Amino acid sequence: MTLTEINALEALAFETHFAGVLEHSPRYAAQVAAGRPYRSVEALAAAFAAAFTSDTPDAQLALIRAHPDLAGKAALAGDLTRESASEQASAGLDRLSPEEYAEFHRLNAAYHDRFGLPYVVCVREHSKESIFEGARRRLSNTPEQERRAALHEIGRIARLRVLDLVQEEGHD
Ligand code: GUN
Repeated sequence: MTLTEINALEALAFETHFAGVLEHSPRYAAQVAAGRPYRSVEALAAAFAAAFTSDTPDAQLALIRAHPDLAGKAALAGDLTRESASEQASAGLDRLSPEEYAEFHRLNAAYHDRFGLPYVVCVREHSKESIFEGARRRLSNTPEQERRAALHEIGRIARLRVLDLVQEEGHD
């Protein structure tokens, strides 16, 4: 669908189309629908970021916690959203060696212990190595820095998901 078509959709159809932009958090799409028309795909993506950035601190924590662990239990059980599964596969996280799985498990556990949150990173903008490196580096952040980092990454994830859902004008 093109941006012109998206700007003209019924609100419910818009919400359905963009329900998966924020992980397990379709309600933000309703708010973004109400802000139409958008003049560019980037403006539409920015509206998703604005929706959760202006939400309460508790809602922001819930949004971060809605993300599954990378290469975690849900991934092993095949229990991911379509978006998360394809993102994790893009960085090769669905085909790790036993040693790499074990290292992810350790890093995820250390991260949960320190912050009470899943480690969230826009995996499509990273390699397996930089995802590992980011987890180690971010463990020395303060909880407040890390809350901000996670929300920044969620904005990046949402932007790429929006780009996937909007077709360029004139290309059916
Ligand atoms: N980065 C992109 N997708 C995901 C996800 O589903 N979970 C986490 N933790 N990070 C992500």
